[in-house]
Amino acid sequence: MAAYIVEDTKKITTQKIMQMKKDGKKIAMLTSYDYTMAQIVDQAGVDIVLVGDSASNIMAGNLTTLPITIDEMIYHARSVARAVKRAMVICDMPFGTYQVSREEGVRNAIRMMAQTGVDGLKLEGGEEIIDTIRGIINAGIPVIGHLGLTPQSVYKFGGFGVRAKEEAEATKLMNDAKLLEQAGCFSIVLEKIPAELTQKVCQAVSIPVIGIGAGAADGQVLVAHDMLGMNDSFKPKFLRRYADLHNVINDAVGQYIIDVKDGSFPSEAESY
Ligand code: KIV
Repeated sequence: MAAYIVEDTKKITTQKIMQMKKDGKKIAMLTSYDYTMAQIVDQAGVDIVLVGDSASNIMAGNLTTLPITIDEMIYHARSVARAVKRAMVICDMPFGTYQVSREEGVRNAIRMMAQTGVDGLKLEGGEEIIDTIRGIINAGIPVIGHLGLTPQSVYKFGGFGVRAKEEAEATKLMNDAKLLEQAGCFSIVLEKIPAELTQKVCQAVSIPVIGIGAGAADGQVLVAHDMLGMNDSFKPKFLRRYADLHNVINDAVGQYIIDVKDGSFPSEAESY
């Protein structure tokens, strides 16, 4: 596999991300939740590193993103922000931190920005939270919207299936996308919706649309642990696996155990 050559090493800004759509350049976004992974992902040349609330699943083993707290997200985001030099770092606002009121949402958003060093936040939802999004952007915080399968609403949806297949939901999603653009979001993530609808949204809004399980868009986002094959059993249709780290790690750990048990590790060269 080829390494990606980073042409411009300057820190990526919201303006640069929006310009990429105008220039027809695709945006590559990946998650990270810790310093080491964020450093690798940034050095490889991604445009945006997302401290996703999928940390709840991937890091903590929860079934949904709902249990992760603002303090836990702040811990992950700080670690990532410390590592990243070039990419934009965006952090998810966790469940319950922005749905109650505009005031509480703005206060939590300010806290997350002040205590982490990230470059912006991502919130799930459209019309229902548009006033809060306006308040956060008015406070000077860049925001990415998130529509379609919004995992914080998994219990409302009744599962993690494809969203907006029916006309009414597709129409609402299109309206929400326009509202997010009008409110000042600099980008929108669309998760698990039909590719045709994604295309329509890409054409209807001037801000970049970043897809996950949503077909072609202005950019793509994946959970890094998933695309690296860390979880052997997670194989949704939309996921392309670029490595098989589950087996790589399993083999390495297996060899280590053998070497320890048969006494071949450490050797003389590995001893003081
Ligand atoms: O939390 C997350 O990782 C996300 C991506 C799946 C878009 O929101």
